[in-house]
Amino acid sequence: MVTRLNVILTLFLLVAAFSCKQSTHSAKQPSYSIDSLIMEHLLPDSTAFADTVDGKEVRIYYLENHRGMAVAITNYGGRIVSLVVPDSSGQPADVVLGYPSIKDYLSDSSTYLGALIGRYGNRIAKGRFTLNGKTYQLYINNPPNSLHGGHHGFDSKVWEARQPSDSVLELTYVSPDGEENYPGTLTVQVTYTVTDSNALEISYRATTDKPTVLNLTNHAYFNLSGEGYPSIGNTVLQLLADHYTPIDSTLIPTGEIAPVAGTPLDFTKPMPIGQRIDSPFIQLQYGHGYDHNFVLNKPAPDSLSLAAVAYSPVTGIEMKVYTTQPGVQFYSGNFLDGSHKGLAGKPYVRRSAFCLETQHFPDSPNHPNFPSTLLNPGEIFTSQTIYAFGIHQ
Ligand code: GLA
Repeated sequence: MVTRLNVILTLFLLVAAFSCKQSTHSAKQPSYSIDSLIMEHLLPDSTAFADTVDGKEVRIYYLENHRGMAVAITNYGGRIVSLVVPDSSGQPADVVLGYPSIKDYLSDSSTYLGALIGRYGNRIAKGRFTLNGKTYQLYINNPPNSLHGGHHGFDSKVWEARQPSDSVLELTYVSPDGEENYPGTLTVQVTYTVTDSNALEISYRATTDKPTVLNLTNHAYFNLSGEGYPSIGNTVLQLLADHYTPIDSTLIPTGEIAPVAGTPLDFTKPMPIGQRIDSPFIQLQYGHGYDHNFVLNKPAPDSLSLAAVAYSPVTGIEMKVYTTQPGVQFYSGNFLDGSHKGLAGKPYVRRSAFCLETQHFPDSPNHPNFPSTLLNPGEIFTSQTIYAFGIHQ
């Protein structure tokens, strides 16, 4: 009798425990799906991205996990079009800038919204560098300099795409020898992964058949208050960088590695982005706000380390950025001008988003004191960047 009672009691407790676990678990499940996010204009509609560009098929890919994160990426430029994470009340928020259709991307060649950038992220002075005694002249698309790969950088290429699972997208682009006047056939693979801890991981891999230079990054514009929210002024940012590379009036590094201490570029402690952005500091005037490469404090070169933490007091959404790269370009969206509207129909006005482009330093081929961006045949370039989301505590 006692044994039977025990068995019944144990069974009862097991059932109770199981249903309790189930309900706690289901409470954490998002109440939204890819379809509902498309209806709410938080993710783009796939039909608006079905196109052929340069004779190649363009489409949108949706990545998701079971924790409320969903990301839309198009193989046109490998662009992140939207990135949805739960806010502090569990509601979905799209925290990157993105356009509703491929046509919008094709008609904007200067913003690099969400794009993969190459061959060389940021500027090369006068579009010129010398490698093994030979001088290469690149296209000057940002006078007097070459910016983000030149005339047709990786942001405007159609990448080959493979989606091996719901949460992974693999993109490949083979850049022919001499493309944009860069030497060597460069084969680039970028893998986007949405993890179960609400992070977007970006892994880069590249090989070449001739010595060349490269600087790969992603140009996502974040607004942690939600895309279309008119300002990032109250977004709080911390950069794990004691130094930065000062620029001249054309945004080319002078070559100096200067301390941030005592300047409005000191984000070593969390600080609202808007607090000092209009200070009379010549570097901010050259950049029209923040548009600077920060030298990350690295425990060891190439180690995966925390680069930045940002959060919005509006949504409570916090983003941590980890990278193996030596630098990060903090760009405060100074050139956004309201002429383009995003997924939800709101204009992207000046300083309504920020970029944290993990990278090697701008113009490195012309600065021997900067970490090298040279890639030789037989070597494999790899790097990793993680944008991890949560709620600010
Ligand atoms: C980078 C540059 C900026 C600007 C943007 C794109 O972040 O540093 O100056 O060109 O790209 O608009």
